[in-house]
Amino acid sequence: GQLNTLAVRAGLKYFGTAVDESKQSDSQYVSLLSTTTEFGQVVPENGQKWAYTEPSQNSFSYTQGDIVPNIASKNGQILRCHTLTWHSQLPSWVSSGSWTKATLTAVIQTHISNVMKHYLGQCYHWDVVNEAVDDSAVYRTSVFYNVLGTDFIPISFTAARAADPNAKLFYNDYNLEYNGAKTDKTVEIVNLIKAAGAPIDGVGFQGHLIVGSTPSRSSLSTALRRFTALGLEVAYTELDIRHSSLPASSSALVTQGNDYANVVGSCLDVTGCVGVTVWGFTDKYSWIPSTFNGAGDALIYDANFNKKPAWTSVSSVLAAK
Ligand code: G3I
Repeated sequence: GQLNTLAVRAGLKYFGTAVDESKQSDSQYVSLLSTTTEFGQVVPENGQKWAYTEPSQNSFSYTQGDIVPNIASKNGQILRCHTLTWHSQLPSWVSSGSWTKATLTAVIQTHISNVMKHYLGQCYHWDVVNEAVDDSAVYRTSVFYNVLGTDFIPISFTAARAADPNAKLFYNDYNLEYNGAKTDKTVEIVNLIKAAGAPIDGVGFQGHLIVGSTPSRSSLSTALRRFTALGLEVAYTELDIRHSSLPASSSALVTQGNDYANVVGSCLDVTGCVGVTVWGFTDKYSWIPSTFNGAGDALIYDANFNKKPAWTSVSSVLAAK
């Protein structure tokens, strides 16, 4: 492995990966994700989400959430933490509760305070609010928005800073890479957080992209700079670039590699882009096929843990910096 070594040499803080808590008995998987020259940073794919950490009100559980932080501390890897206020993987006691503004505010504050204090001192970044905007670039009609309007966003960030003053606090979303209406809306979110007097340190570009439809390196840099211009850090937090149909041809694998190089290159081009995290690294395991029927093979190693052209493209763009 070399990607993290090359990334750090190129000026990034890390090259990292999401880790699936349910695959810990796969020794090849564990060995590769623990190779710190390859992955200098890890993030739990699921275990820190609300459904796992507070499955019923005021009853906190960290069995799943601790798996990846323990790996990070054993290996000396940077830990990104994911995620606090999100509409998905939210237990029904939250999503179906009958709340007033005051009671839901207290629920959010209690959740954030307990979870962040459990991980105090371990999280370099926290994804505080995830995916508040829907695919039509309007605020998502979650329980949080329905009850509190946009106030749930600054409420979450204020609670997060109080719980862990050292973690960098991120807003995280997908499709920001296209620099369209959803990106505009996210600039609005940053501004409303600041106008409320709440803190924010960064914006995560998830980077769930499609082979052949990934923006150019310069377009991607332009989108990132909209947030660094506001004084924030940015990072690619969940990068994967899927083939729309499988099996991928050899030319599609080359295109995938070029798309990966554009994404990683755009981070290198932007002062304030601190790192790149892939959302898994082997095509053996991915969330994509169950969400996008027939699509997949979005990662940098194949299902047998062989490096793909995308791995080589990423290593080349990092080495060229
Ligand atoms: O834990 C249950 C298990 O008890 C049950 O037997 C099994 C049966 O389906 O489901 C398990 O839960 C699954 C969970 O992953 C853990 O494996 C859920 O069904 C499944 O929906 C869930 O998918 C996750 C998805 O978020 C949920 O929205 C994916 O693994 C995860 O990769 C994905 O990650 C998200 C980021 O958090 C936010 N950005 C988008 C990204 C991709 O969707």
